[in-house]
Amino acid sequence: MKLFLDSADVNEVRQAAEWGLIEGVTTNPSLLAKTGQPYQTVLREICSLVDGPVSCEVVATSAEAMLEEGEKLAQLHPNIVVKCPVVVEGLKATRALSRRGIKVNVTLVFTPLQALLAAKCGAAYVSPFVGRLDDIGQDGLAMVAQTVRIFANYKFPTEILVASVRSPSHLVRAAEVGAHIATVPFNVLRQILHHPLTDIGLERFLSDWRASRQKI
Ligand code: E4P
Repeated sequence: MKLFLDSADVNEVRQAAEWGLIEGVTTNPSLLAKTGQPYQTVLREICSLVDGPVSCEVVATSAEAMLEEGEKLAQLHPNIVVKCPVVVEGLKATRALSRRGIKVNVTLVFTPLQALLAAKCGAAYVSPFVGRLDDIGQDGLAMVAQTVRIFANYKFPTEILVASVRSPSHLVRAAEVGAHIATVPFNVLRQILHHPLTDIGLERFLSDWRASRQKI
């Protein structure tokens, strides 16, 4: 399972890239707005830090305008992936952009059938939002598992990019059910890097070694 960073914060992207742990980045209009910077500057900088797909979402509401925005975004950098919402206009734009060779990540997916429609329209990625489903008392990862089975049945090349990840356990389940990618907020990435028993164990190994007065 590939790991992407779900962030528009350039400092977070830089740090995660230095750790060598991320293979792409996802943003959304809320995350980009939070930076207070021009979106083109932020996206270009992210693309210079990470050599992988960088998703950026259209904000138009008609297919025609989404297509125009998508083409503009795609010109920023070859790694830009255009995000379109899974509504009728978004699916029309997905088909049109995909036919022009522009990769699309269909976002705000909450059911396996929405994912199926996105795949049929040529989406390169679909983004099921697991945390937001859990928030309303549903099982986000169960929906991802269904989508994995459906895509396998029909051999869709569309990759399932698990989004709205809130905890390491979301990642474990995403990997268990065979999701292709998970996009993680920076705080979750940090959480999976630390385990108290690892820290305690390492400290003990090092102090025992120091006591032996040997050198390697
Ligand atoms: C994915 O691409 C979205 O940016 C993101 O995962 C949404 O997460 P949230 O539900 O925590 O806002």
